[in-house]
Amino acid sequence: RKKTAILISGRGSNMGALISAALNKDYPAEIALVVSNVPGAKGLERVAEFGIKTAVIDHKAFAGDREGFEKALHAELLDNNIELVALAGFMRLLTPFFVNAWSGRLINIHPALLPAFKGLATHERALEEGVKLHGATVHFVSAEMDDGPIIIQGAVPVLDTDTAETLGARVLGVEHAIYPKALELVASGKAKITGGRVKSGGSENDTGQLV
Ligand code: GAR
Repeated sequence: RKKTAILISGRGSNMGALISAALNKDYPAEIALVVSNVPGAKGLERVAEFGIKTAVIDHKAFAGDREGFEKALHAELLDNNIELVALAGFMRLLTPFFVNAWSGRLINIHPALLPAFKGLATHERALEEGVKLHGATVHFVSAEMDDGPIIIQGAVPVLDTDTAETLGARVLGVEHAIYPKALELVASGKAKITGGRVKSGGSENDTGQLV
């Protein structure tokens, strides 16, 4: 099983979905470490009961020195023999130093159907644009924000009655379904980057079927 670290900044519901999936001994990834860049992040409270090691590396302690922060993070991952890194609501931009060090072993979940709606407030912007399908994407991380080869996408309908909250909740359900599947594909070596694209990735509709 691939030793995997999850990086969080907040609530940690996607982290919870990955931890749950990895409780199955046949799952190809083992969650060995959870790192938060925010002291007191809600998600950290959920980890204790699973006996998973946690670490806090507060970016504020590095006062604008992004690479200093990332070197500390990198050292923590190496100290724990981590092989794969999954960003789950980790709200720091990563520099080429870190992204290159973990190239092909670093994945992220974003609450939109990339390349649409990179950045923040994705559900608000999806409603403003009037898109009829919205969703979530798991991708390998490249040095550009919310960019990199796509592993799995999941789509949901946008309803006339939706608010950002109701739409966000529907998308979150898809996030919790696709992230464990994406980590499984990466940890088992089934999803690999070939020519800038991922072969053997997938997509999922809101019935929960991988299609
Ligand atoms: C999730 O919706 C995730 O997709 C998003 O933050 C939320 C974290 O929730 N990530 C991003 O916006 C990254 N660009 P969680 O802490 O409950 O998993």
